[in-house]
Amino acid sequence: MAFPAGFGWGAATAAYQVEGGWNADGKGLSVWDTFTHQGGERVFKNQTGDVACGSYTLWEEDLKCIKQLGLTHYRFSLSWSRLLPDGTTGFINQKGIDYYNKIIDDLLANGIIPIVTLYHFDLPQALEDQGGWLSEAIIDSFDRYAQFCFSTFGDRVKQWITINEPNIFSLLTYDIGVFPPCMPHIGTGGYQAAHNLIKAHARSWHSYDSLFRKEQKGMVSITIFGGWVEPADPDSLADREAAQRAIAFLVDFFAKPIFIDGDYPEVVKSQVASMSKKQGYPSSRLPEFTEEEKKMIKGTADFFAVHYYTTRLVKHQENKKAELGVFFDAEIELSTHPSWKNMKWVYVVPWGIRKLLKYIADMYNNPVIYITENGFPQGDPATLDDTQRWEYFKQTFQEVFKAIQLDKVNLKVYCTWSLLDNFEWTDGYSLRFGLFHVDFEDPARPRVPYKSAKEYAKIIRNNGLEGDL
Ligand code: NOJ
Repeated sequence: MAFPAGFGWGAATAAYQVEGGWNADGKGLSVWDTFTHQGGERVFKNQTGDVACGSYTLWEEDLKCIKQLGLTHYRFSLSWSRLLPDGTTGFINQKGIDYYNKIIDDLLANGIIPIVTLYHFDLPQALEDQGGWLSEAIIDSFDRYAQFCFSTFGDRVKQWITINEPNIFSLLTYDIGVFPPCMPHIGTGGYQAAHNLIKAHARSWHSYDSLFRKEQKGMVSITIFGGWVEPADPDSLADREAAQRAIAFLVDFFAKPIFIDGDYPEVVKSQVASMSKKQGYPSSRLPEFTEEEKKMIKGTADFFAVHYYTTRLVKHQENKKAELGVFFDAEIELSTHPSWKNMKWVYVVPWGIRKLLKYIADMYNNPVIYITENGFPQGDPATLDDTQRWEYFKQTFQEVFKAIQLDKVNLKVYCTWSLLDNFEWTDGYSLRFGLFHVDFEDPARPRVPYKSAKEYAKIIRNNGLEGDL
């Protein structure tokens, strides 16, 4: 199974999850610093990203791992508050610039292409204090930060992701409220944040387009948490429609405005409007884009970036009691199949990735696609001989190969999550997604390859897998 020549093989990380150095050299606080320092058992064992993998001082160790794998691409994120401690360009932290310059320069010197995420969940606390993503002011702040990054690093960085998983982020932060700033506004906050996230993304894409593209010749996108959904009963029309609603709320909610026409999917608009009416709201809880905003948002991505981890079964579930919440708005109930193995929320369903890719190709006019994350966690303690996990990866690569070969999907880059075991948000260090094991008890934070790392290196070397379809 030979992959197309030039296929990109990557791995990904994110600043707060690996860097540590939470207050080193003038870095400002992010909402994750504040949140983890408050304790209260909201994170597994009250763990924090204060040190994490120590990548702020151990970048060279990360580079060794990257070279050992033979990656063609490395995806990492910039810590906004490391670069701009209070979130604004009023004060610029040169030490932060130096840190990322070194990463970028080292990658390029080794022939590795950086994919840089501007924002991966870690809002500067100072901006949260001014309303965060619930406030429209964030659009300007984000755009200024993005312009600062394009002008500082864009001579060398050509592949940008503005915002990581806006769909999961908006839900967990301002809707359910389990991620900082932990402001549950169930049924409204997520939509309000999503509205601002989309506009902020679009504004920064336009800034790139008008101010930097000509000279820098790069590409800008946003990365969406994807997944697959199958009707629980494929013979039931209600379940089939429920599965369509599920993917519309999950993926198309962000992708349709950005890739197609500047507006939310009809089914999302009509579901939220009718639920809102039942609940006695004077208008829909889903904000509307103005015509001008729709024009501004439409067509603001240069490739399609998506994550795949898992699949769910979907049943139609009428919202009889007019309850509040995104799943109630979508009138769906999610479940899993008893035959699917799992570690926490990640049920292993390798064929789901092929279906997701095909869906994107069909819906979005066969765009260039990057899988910017895919992976499977181990629990802690994790075994270095992760044979079973490698099986999942292999099956996933087979499905990805089918998507390229049989479905003619225009997939160009695949990144695993993650290069290293790292701080898995509210699961702390209890879930290990790394290709390299990290010992978080040892101050030197040694990185040791799992079997999966060695096998992945072989796939990269051969640009494909042994065997035929
Ligand atoms: C998606 C997120 O982008 C990343 O931060 C997280 O660690 C992985 N999923 C695994 O949950």
